[in-house]
Amino acid sequence: MANASGLFSTPSVPNFTLRVRPFSSIHRFQGFSTKVFCSGTIEGAQNYASPTQSRIPRLVSQGCKLVGCGSAVPALQISNDELSKIVDTNDEWISVRTGIRRRHVLSGGDSLITLAADAAKKALEMAKVDPDDIDLILMCTSTPEDLFGSAPQIQKQLGCTKNPLSYDITAACSGFVLGLLSAACHIRGGGFRNVLVIGADALSRYVDWTDRGTCILFGDAAGAVVVQACDSEEDGLFGFDVHSDGNGIRHLNAGIKENESNNALDSNGSVRSFPPKKSSYSCIQMNGKEVFRFAVRCVPQTIESALKKAGLPASSIDWLLLHQANQRIIDAVATRLEIPSERVISNLANYGNTSAASIPLALDEAVRSGKVKAGQTIAAAGFGAGLTWGSAIVRWG
Ligand code: ACO
Repeated sequence: MANASGLFSTPSVPNFTLRVRPFSSIHRFQGFSTKVFCSGTIEGAQNYASPTQSRIPRLVSQGCKLVGCGSAVPALQISNDELSKIVDTNDEWISVRTGIRRRHVLSGGDSLITLAADAAKKALEMAKVDPDDIDLILMCTSTPEDLFGSAPQIQKQLGCTKNPLSYDITAACSGFVLGLLSAACHIRGGGFRNVLVIGADALSRYVDWTDRGTCILFGDAAGAVVVQACDSEEDGLFGFDVHSDGNGIRHLNAGIKENESNNALDSNGSVRSFPPKKSSYSCIQMNGKEVFRFAVRCVPQTIESALKKAGLPASSIDWLLLHQANQRIIDAVATRLEIPSERVISNLANYGNTSAASIPLALDEAVRSGKVKAGQTIAAAGFGAGLTWGSAIVRWG
């Protein structure tokens, strides 16, 4: 709680008073170094406003940083021209309206779990972390290969013999950013040193391939990063901002539907209410225009809010790395933030919208091509179904 002199006192720590400088700064108490960090809060966002009034200063005695990345895509590649053979569309319409030229799609016996494990192995190799030194695996996906989650199967494929906790996070195209923040929370809370964050999705399995309004957008992929504990002075997560708004479900969803052929009748001839009917998920339903409007409104807001919490100006961003949904969305956000196009990462021409995989996939390509260098600052933002959206200002390496 702040008093008139700008001092913050924490009620849980008696006689503990702390002067908070704007945003993050290092303090020393009783022989250990403590970083004061202004974090984000998760809030409802009726008007999609940034919660600048609600910043809560937090003490961070343990930092976290990104030390490795990797990615993998299925072998089958489908160009716009090939797509136009099965649905009424054409390369010009798709590339002008979205920037997408081709996408990779799981086929035959391909498995999303294997794809995710391949991406994870590359990230571990870059980070020089042994599978047995992983403390936690977070699989960010909305398309798990088992109702109960895919993360433990990835753990098995990686050959982790010490049974590290592994679980799924479902938040569509915001999944990877939320996974990154969850990794930071686990590390900062103590007890976790190496956290593997994987973003992997196979939306091709939930697309209606006769609906030209949605099927042209999506592709399948996996990307991964290793987030590692470090001294608070080296902390590489400068600020973040995250939101969700359940009202937006009408604009983008793939809801559960009852199997119609399962209408068994009871002895009176009426439809039996028990046992429940078998269910499955419907194909992706989307109001593209509304999702577009939501993205160009909320993404700049969330990045501005995260930058404010980090105490950094937009000019300090070396790279803008957005969820790869539509080039027109990426361009609109960059323009609004006044970030020149040469500092914007984009690879959706080759992959389409790969949901939770898109940010780590683009990061991995940019790091391995030498574009993104150690020590550079990245503003990453995800947005999508839920609706969910959020951003993180991070340092690479
Ligand atoms: N090929 C050719 N014509 C098409 C196609 C197509 N694939 N799709 C639509 N059209 C036609 C329409 O029928 C319409 O024709 P009409 O004017 O004769 O009626 C015309 O093109 C314009 O259609 P719109 O839907 O208005 O096109 P728009 O410019 O809005 O672009 C798009 C559609 C690309 C889907 C865009 O709205 C968009 O990208 N929205 C954001 C989607 C998004 O980012 N989703 C994120 C999902 S992330 C997650 O969480 C899963």
